[in-house]
Amino acid sequence: MQNPRSILITGASSGIGRALAVAYAKPGRTLFLGGRNAERLAAAAAECRAKGALVETRVGDVGDEAAMKTWIEDAHQMAALDLVIANAGVSLGYSRDYDLAPHTRMTFMANVDGVFNTVHPAIRCMTGRGGQIAIMSSLSGFHGLPSSPAYSASKAAVKSYGEALRGLLAKEDITVSVICPGFIDSHMTARNDFPMPFLMSSDRAAQIIVRGLARGAARIAFPLPMLAMVRLLALLPAAWSDLLLRRAPRKR
Ligand SMILES: NC(=O)c1ccc[n+]([C@@H]2O[C@H](COP(=O)([O-])OP(=O)(O)OC[C@H]3O[C@@H](n4cnc5c(N)ncnc54)[C@H](OP(=O)(O)O)[C@@H]3O)[C@@H](O)[C@H]2O)c1
Repeated sequence: MQNPRSILITGASSGIGRALAVAYAKPGRTLFLGGRNAERLAAAAAECRAKGALVETRVGDVGDEAAMKTWIEDAHQMAALDLVIANAGVSLGYSRDYDLAPHTRMTFMANVDGVFNTVHPAIRCMTGRGGQIAIMSSLSGFHGLPSSPAYSASKAAVKSYGEALRGLLAKEDITVSVICPGFIDSHMTARNDFPMPFLMSSDRAAQIIVRGLARGAARIAFPLPMLAMVRLLALLPAAWSDLLLRRAPRKR
C-alpha cells in the first residue's frame, strides 16, 4: 500500500518494530504501537510524535488473544486500519539441559499465537474495506536449524500461513506480505556471541520493508546474499545440509 494512513505495529518498543514506527511516522498518520516494556514503548512513541504522527500505545502481551482483539478493534474504530504489521517475536537461547518443552511453548506463544492474535482480528476489521497485513517471519524459516529448532519452526509456520492467506484474502482486497530478514542488529541479536553474516541495522531493514510493503510484495526477503544461502541450503541433499548445519553456533 502506497500511503497507509492508519498503521498498527506489534513489537514496536525496540528493534525492527520501533524502526518501522519511526520510518512511518509523519503528520496525518496514526500509529498504534504495541510492546511489553512500557518505558521503551513510550520512548518509541515520543520519537514518532516528534515526527508529527498521532500515536496511541498499548502495553501488553501478544499472547493474550482477548486483549489483542479488543486493542485492534478499538484502534480500527478510532482510525480505520490500513496496515497491520505482526512483528513482535522472541528468539530464546537454549540451556545445556535441552529445556525443549517450555522453550518451544514460549517461542510459539509469541511468534505464532502472537501473529494469529494480531492477524485474525485485523482480517475481520479489513473485510469489506480492504487493507494490508504484514507478517514477520525470518530467513531462518526456510530450513529447520539445529541451532534454534523452535525459532526456525515458528518462523516457517508464519511464513507458510502468510503465503496461504495472501491467496485466500486477495478477493477481499486484503494484501498479505511476509517479511523474511536475515541478521538484524536489535535487542534480539545483541546477545549473540557468534559471527552474524551481513548484519544490517534496524533502520536499514525498516527502509527495505517499507519499500516492499508499498509495492505490496508477497515476500520481502533480505539481504540477498543471505537469501541465496538459505535457498541453496534448502536445495541441498539432506546429508549435505546436515553436515553444514551441525557446525552452526547455538544461542545461549
Ligand atoms: N533481529 C533479527 O536478526 C531478526 C531476523 C529475522 C526476523 N526477526 C524478527 O523480527 C521481529 C522483531 O525482532 P527484533 O529483531 O526487532 O527484536 P527486538 O528488538 O527484541 O524486538 C522484539 C519486539 O517484540 C516485542 N515482543 C516480544 N515478545 C512479545 C510478546 N509476547 N508480547 C508483546 N510484544 C512482544 C518486544 O517487546 P518488549 O521488548 O517491549 O518486550 C519488542 O518490541 C521478531 O519477530 C523477530 O523474530 C528478527
